[in-house]
Amino acid sequence: MPLANAFLRPEELGQESFFDLAAAFCLDCGMVQLLEQPACEKMFHAEYPFFTGSSQFMKNHFEKQALKILAKYPPSSDPFIVEIGSNDGTFLSHFTRHGVRHAGFEPAGGPAEIARAQGVQTVPSFFDAGSASDLAGQDGRADVIFAANVMCHMPNLHSVFEGVSRLLKPAGVFIFEDPYLGDVLSGTAYDQIYDEHVFLFSVRAVMGLARRHGMEVSDLEPVPVHGGSMRFTVNFKGSKPVSPRVDEALAVETQRGLDKAETFHQFRRRVEESRDALKNLLEDLKKKGKRVMGYAATSKSTTVLNYCGITPGLLESICDTTPAKQGKLSPGAHIPVVPYEDFKKNNPDYALLFAWNHRQEIFAKEAEFSRGGGQWILFVPEVQILGAGQS
Ligand code: TMP
Repeated sequence: MPLANAFLRPEELGQESFFDLAAAFCLDCGMVQLLEQPACEKMFHAEYPFFTGSSQFMKNHFEKQALKILAKYPPSSDPFIVEIGSNDGTFLSHFTRHGVRHAGFEPAGGPAEIARAQGVQTVPSFFDAGSASDLAGQDGRADVIFAANVMCHMPNLHSVFEGVSRLLKPAGVFIFEDPYLGDVLSGTAYDQIYDEHVFLFSVRAVMGLARRHGMEVSDLEPVPVHGGSMRFTVNFKGSKPVSPRVDEALAVETQRGLDKAETFHQFRRRVEESRDALKNLLEDLKKKGKRVMGYAATSKSTTVLNYCGITPGLLESICDTTPAKQGKLSPGAHIPVVPYEDFKKNNPDYALLFAWNHRQEIFAKEAEFSRGGGQWILFVPEVQILGAGQS
């Protein structure tokens, strides 16, 4: 499997690096994680093409979360807010605007530059025990540490937790949200498995992880982003009351068999069926002379394209709003990525929706495509075609 965001220029063909993508489940601690983890520097660099602000839905989501924190920690109380993986500053910009002390760790050069241009204080480093200590020494300890879709990216999770415990005030909270294992399993969302998703968290695994660092999960909340995520609130053990929601969620996981190997064997079988159904559908459409275009060159699409063996003969191109991906080829499968405007111009018969987690936003934006007879192909939770009136 290539790296999910290693979109390449045509002249870079033949220079891709590949790794063995395999996820495993630990019967002891309940963690699902990749067996081989590519080096972080290979993934998050100056040309890293993911920008949080490319989705209006995500911008609204982070604004809501920032306002919640501001209500609990008003500017008058002089809080210090830290974000791990602050990307283009979408979340922290709300604190900049209110003059609140903040800092974001962001090693990816492109997004960090956009954040700085908005006045977001950005530390150009990976977050770990060392960089967290440095910040604590320089600016003091944090009231809130926030991370969204970042914790699951970090192979050195223990150093990250150690960093959190060095940087957080004794009564501070660490809030993080990531794709939730339970949703990946129920949606057969195998495309959540790629190089950057080193871990898929369950409540049980996060509780165990926090415990090993003198902390505990005091609350959690399912959040409807990235195809189903869980937001965890973690703090030093005993510093906050623990919500009954934590034990309830753990009981649901046990009831669903999230602690059993057989659950993962069943998942693998559903994934293989989904792969075959998608490939067969695309081959069938090709035989019928239909034109299929991909919609959104997501990180997840790299897993789908390469795992299912989808070639440029089956999918003519993928449209995407991110300028850094346009004009390039998708990693491994080499499907051309074209500007978003080409979707309307090319007017395909079918659109394979890779950004299924942004489905509502996209269907609303593309109502004209469906009205004109265009059909959507979905593969989560199962391979299906949505005809007129269904999107
Ligand atoms: P991700 O799934 O890896 O977060 O990436 C989302 C990608 O989807 C990103 O490249 C932008 C793209 N996108 C579109 O092209 N159109 C859209 O309407 C949305 C919401 C996302």
